[in-house]
Amino acid sequence: MKAIEIREKYLTFFKNHGHTVIPSAPLIPENDPSVLFTTAGMQPLVPYLLGENHPAGTRLTDYQKCVRTVDIDEVGDNRHLTYFEMLGNWSLGDYFKEESIQMSFDFLTKELGIPIEKLSVTCFTGDNDCPRDEVSAECWKKAGIPEDHIYFYGKDDNWWIAGEEGPCGPDTEMFYDTGKPACSENCQPSCDCGKYVEIWNNVFMEYFKDAKGNYTKLSKKNVDTGLGLERMAMLLQGKETPYDTELFAPIMQKLEELQKVDDIQSRRVVAEHLRSSMMIICDGGRPSNLDRGYVLRRLIRRMIRHMNKLAINLEEISTLIELNVDNLKEMYPDLSKNKEIIQSVMLEEKDKFIKTLTHGEKEFSKEKQKAEEQGKKQIDGKVVFRLYDTYGFPPEVTAELAKENGMTVDLEEFNRLFKEHQEKSRLGSEQKFKGGLADQNEKTIAYHTATHLLHQALRTILGDHVKQSGSNITEERLRFDFTHPQKMTKEEIKQVEDLVNEQIQKDLPVTCEEMNYDEAKESGAIGLFTDKYGEKVKVYTIGNFSKEICGGPHVTHTGDMGTFKIKKEESSSSGIRRIKAVLV
Ligand code: SER
Repeated sequence: MKAIEIREKYLTFFKNHGHTVIPSAPLIPENDPSVLFTTAGMQPLVPYLLGENHPAGTRLTDYQKCVRTVDIDEVGDNRHLTYFEMLGNWSLGDYFKEESIQMSFDFLTKELGIPIEKLSVTCFTGDNDCPRDEVSAECWKKAGIPEDHIYFYGKDDNWWIAGEEGPCGPDTEMFYDTGKPACSENCQPSCDCGKYVEIWNNVFMEYFKDAKGNYTKLSKKNVDTGLGLERMAMLLQGKETPYDTELFAPIMQKLEELQKVDDIQSRRVVAEHLRSSMMIICDGGRPSNLDRGYVLRRLIRRMIRHMNKLAINLEEISTLIELNVDNLKEMYPDLSKNKEIIQSVMLEEKDKFIKTLTHGEKEFSKEKQKAEEQGKKQIDGKVVFRLYDTYGFPPEVTAELAKENGMTVDLEEFNRLFKEHQEKSRLGSEQKFKGGLADQNEKTIAYHTATHLLHQALRTILGDHVKQSGSNITEERLRFDFTHPQKMTKEEIKQVEDLVNEQIQKDLPVTCEEMNYDEAKESGAIGLFTDKYGEKVKVYTIGNFSKEICGGPHVTHTGDMGTFKIKKEESSSSGIRRIKAVLV
């Protein structure tokens, strides 16, 4: 069964069991600076798991695009992925253990046709915070799982929470027996020898854990489940790794054709990082030296290093992107729409990295010589950090180079310095978040409305690929960042200015309506569609020209705003342009 069929079957099954299918939230959470990427299906739903009402009801299902990067260095083995898709179903104070377990059992055995004997399940064994989960075990037995396929484990295995604080609870996990021989007499689902593969996780979210580690009961009992699509496809197809499924096979094959040096691990790294970078760029991510931008940069650069290892010409990145869009467009139609941007961001990053490699390698040679003169076999963490900070030279590359020269690097010190640096930038960006629209006066309000006019004008003149990626307003000017692959021409700038000024001259009325996010989306409003289904939002409409989700405030009529003038159009980061404009 192909991955896309599994997805379809899943959504249909839960739809038939009273669930509303909701769309995947973007990989980049727009309004949640606490996480870099969406890492689980439940993440966009946290407010509802904590008790808010969801407009789509109490039974939801979706597929969610996810990125997890903790294991980035493991990618290349036979199972770790940075990008993956999670299928999920939720009960928000609706059904609980029995129905959830029965549905999972039916889906696995009837829809996917997995023989019962291939399944094992695990339940929470109980501790001071929460009793042993006999109920789940009973439900499994009732559904048809034999007792000797039911295991009990502690918090390490059968408890789920995203991070340190938040909604959480005991979970019951389902495992697929690959049929490989047991590694020992004690081989169990918790064993990581590869015989048992976890396929689905149902979390019974009854608790909230606060920052101090105290557990309290939530107002409602929820169910949150997650099923990894790539893994399921691999198992159902009887493949050894996700790379052997249709999701990766065409790219893997192409890499084999192109390579001059054979290395399966490197081929996997290239195939995996190519897909995750493309998905992140598609959702508006751009490489940079900060936070999620740095994760993307690392993914692309790691991919390039492994292309180098395979001795594949880097110009082939273009071909690989083309091939991957073709292969994945049915599952992710946005990839086709954003193909040009993906190409230009990846290629630009490649060019930057080539420069970095050359500079960094020179610097490294100097440092190596210094170390040798001092009789040292180790490169200082400070040096690794300087190479990273000044030359954009990734620490893992420095470590690799050192190794090739019979040396090591002080990664511990590097990590300490890197953390310090991260902390500084985190504080910096919190300050930035606070900036926003705190000070309102006539001038800033007019700039705010001008920002909406500009946003729409850019979309009209340049195309619908234009998306806001940042905005900052002072009394003197507006600054607007947006996705667009190349420099705007003089004519385009003029056209945008003219279009904005036309709207100002028309003295258009600005009106505001409150509606749900999904209604807003349906009404054609632009803006940050993220994880806020069901939340009431304000939609500001300017004549027939612009409709945008926004907190306001705005002018009531465009007439008195002045004349709009673009002062500067420049690059902000890869694939993102920045406009500074004034009203005079
Ligand atoms: N939140 C749980 C997980 O990520 C189940 O969806 O595994």
